[in-house]
Amino acid sequence: MNTRHNTCGRAIALACLLAVVVATAFAQDSAFVNGQPWPDVAGRHINAHGGCVLQHDGAYYWYGEQRPDRGYTMDGGIAVYSSTDLRQWTDCGLALRTSPEAGSDIERGCIMERPKVLWNERTRRFVMLFHLELKGRGYEAARVAFAESESPTGPFRFVRSTRLHAQTWPLNMSAADIEAAKQTDASAWKEWWTPEWRAEVEKGMYLWRDFESGQMSRDQTVFTDTDGRTYHITSSQENLTLLISELTDDYLGFTGRYVMVAPGGQNEAPCLFRQGDDYWLICSGCTGWAPNEARMFKAKSIWGPWTQLPSPFQGVATGFFNMPANKTFGAQGNFITRLNGQLLFMADIWNPRHLARSLHIWLPIHFNDEGTPVIPWTGNIEL
Ligand code: DGJ
Repeated sequence: MNTRHNTCGRAIALACLLAVVVATAFAQDSAFVNGQPWPDVAGRHINAHGGCVLQHDGAYYWYGEQRPDRGYTMDGGIAVYSSTDLRQWTDCGLALRTSPEAGSDIERGCIMERPKVLWNERTRRFVMLFHLELKGRGYEAARVAFAESESPTGPFRFVRSTRLHAQTWPLNMSAADIEAAKQTDASAWKEWWTPEWRAEVEKGMYLWRDFESGQMSRDQTVFTDTDGRTYHITSSQENLTLLISELTDDYLGFTGRYVMVAPGGQNEAPCLFRQGDDYWLICSGCTGWAPNEARMFKAKSIWGPWTQLPSPFQGVATGFFNMPANKTFGAQGNFITRLNGQLLFMADIWNPRHLARSLHIWLPIHFNDEGTPVIPWTGNIEL
């Protein structure tokens, strides 16, 4: 274990002690202001984007893309910060490093996005899933990657990267649907976005194109259900269709059970949660780093059918950017989780010219009288 991780362990113990003292003295202290730079304990803006927060053994771990100030590719890798109170975050360095080895899947200069970390009780390991793009190939590789570690702060070991479900049909396609998909031909469509092209996409044209080699996987998240089954949710088929896939018990692979959601709907940045008997999925549209209107879907089973509902966002972001709800307050979701009893929508306000400076927002999710999620703008969030 390297010195930085030891230091982080000591920092957690010290922080636990300090947290009691500080919490008593500053019980009314608010956490942070949404959409403003959020400094770690060293005063540096938290450079962990597209990520997630995991609670484990009395501490919180925030994983995210450690972005360079300029450019889109990774020098470092996936960052991890720790906290015992969700306010004071200590930089624990890199949980997963890019590799100096030429030809490695995670060679320095690759793109790692949207890391999600799970604790696996069976294997007693932390498992990280992330979106991986191979060095020098833009966004064409479209793979999901797996890494694991015995410690929440790493170092995580890279396990493998892959496309999804080669030669496997989704659970929600009938024999007739499969026959229709087999009649499509993606190479025949020189012009995209026409009604005819869209009809072919909805039939599964890109699913069929990638059937032998495996399905694309870009923006992604994970979700553990109340029965312990864990799922991977990803933007596939040229970002046109979402896939929800069951993970194996060790979280290092797929069982082969999966469904397509909203074929041709062009959803990115999926975040999935459950409230009572309802499953909710909040996504963005696909406009690169620019904000757009969020989409929400509801289902009574993780396997669907999923019904689309209006965006849950309400109001206008206060502060310097004044972004309205129909632009998701200038942000794009990265994770939804319950922390300290609050269900939180976590998101990035991307700064594509300086990705490291992208801002964070965490917004509490409320429910209206019909039990539908509502996410109003909240400036100061109490954690
Ligand atoms: C939007 C995605 O949500 C981000 O994670 C990133 O992949 C950008 N697109 C790249 O343009």
